[in-house]
Amino acid sequence: MIQYKDLFYSFHCNEIPGFEDIGKAARALSEIPAGFDRTELQRKTGVDRHRHMRASLDVLPDKKQAMTLEAKGHLNKALPRIEPKAQNTNHQPDEEWSFRPGHIAFNPSYGRLNDLRTLLNNYFDFNCLQAGDFLYPPHGFRLWHTNKFDLESWFIFFVDVDKPKSSFFKFIDPVTNELITHWDEPGTANIFRISSDNNNLLWHCIGTNDSHRWSQGFSIPDNWKEKML
Ligand SMILES: [Fe+2]
Repeated sequence: MIQYKDLFYSFHCNEIPGFEDIGKAARALSEIPAGFDRTELQRKTGVDRHRHMRASLDVLPDKKQAMTLEAKGHLNKALPRIEPKAQNTNHQPDEEWSFRPGHIAFNPSYGRLNDLRTLLNNYFDFNCLQAGDFLYPPHGFRLWHTNKFDLESWFIFFVDVDKPKSSFFKFIDPVTNELITHWDEPGTANIFRISSDNNNLLWHCIGTNDSHRWSQGFSIPDNWKEKML
């Protein structure tokens, strides 16, 4: 297991007794959906803009600018609920997955994570909420962000890759402002806590080099360490 303070933990699913089947269920989700074309992903964002966005992960974020972007994104997600004419940036009902800048997100209403979630709920005896189901193709990314507008909780993200150490989860220590890069391994899980307290935000981003990276996220109970460590 890799641990960074009480901020970030990463382990192979086989390391944790009773977690093997959960890990297997997560890895079974590592597929490239039919009809997905990764050149289309870059074209949708604009090839130059895509390259520029991917390069922004190489340095510490401009926090003010990144937070403005994150707040706008949050508003765009919430707006269709109160203003039906607003452009819906969430999934359309007939889309099994949809493009996001740098990656694709699977539509939760297709139930792709149901089996994994059931196993996780039983393991923790807790109602784990689905937090995301993503595929990052080569040169993919998720820009620097904090999730401060989302649920405040510990999260587990199952991570699978088709090439070790060719993709990363970066985060910033909120106390020291140090940038930490965690290089991904197949069949692993990352655990970290999302806070909405401005003094305790976990700035993080995701990037792939020449690999595909799948991740599925869920909220987990505050006492997760009692079960897993
Ligand atoms: Fe995030």
